[in-house]
Amino acid sequence: MGKIIIMDHPLIQHKLSLIRDKQTGPKDFRELLDEISMLMAYEVTRDLPLQTVEIETPMARMRTKVIAGKKLGIVPILRAGLGMVDGILRLVPAARVGHIGLYRDPETLEPVEYYCKLPSDANERELIVVDPMLATGGSAAAAISFLKKRGCTQIRMMNLLAAPEGLERVQSEHPDVDIYVAAVDERLNDHGYITPGLGDAGDRLYGTK
Ligand code: PRP
Ligand code: URA
Repeated sequence: MGKIIIMDHPLIQHKLSLIRDKQTGPKDFRELLDEISMLMAYEVTRDLPLQTVEIETPMARMRTKVIAGKKLGIVPILRAGLGMVDGILRLVPAARVGHIGLYRDPETLEPVEYYCKLPSDANERELIVVDPMLATGGSAAAAISFLKKRGCTQIRMMNLLAAPEGLERVQSEHPDVDIYVAAVDERLNDHGYITPGLGDAGDRLYGTK
């Protein structure tokens, strides 16, 4: 079973309270999501393997550590996932970015795919799928299946908010995927929205409502 890692660092929790507030407009929403994503990336990358290399400082030669092995890929689920990419790239600028376009059908709440462009070596990379909201889990589970169909095997998921229903769905469909999340909210409402949540992440990011 994949792990659920809740990132309750005070800075993340503080910024999360600001982003939830309905008075927070798109500019601040984008900045806060960007900052939180950078802080979360620190934890998501905690277990990346290191290797020892030899370098020369102005004083002496030394053996020191750099990140080894698989390279990283970030895969935002369009469109709200885009708001999490730059914060991660600031910490891991060499990561490549793939995009998966999905939207939830408002009637069935099931994900509909409309776009996919991945790095050509995505199947050799450690992938972080990002989306602020894990509600029913339909979009996340579909995006992960999409990646697996293309041969990707090392996948972790990073969300700002999750509902228990979404966590359960991803865990049962993809037991190999760890989920990093800033908070797990109470429940979904009748329209599949996380409650208390923050509303519609895409609309709040881009001011479309
Ligand atoms: C939101 C959100 C997730 C999805 C979560 O996207 O960003 O992708 O809903 O819901 P689920 O867990 O029930 O699938 P939305 O479909 O609103 O598309 P958007 O990002 O284009 O606004
Ligand atoms: N998508 C959102 O943007 N917010 C929710 O609460 C659920 C799905």
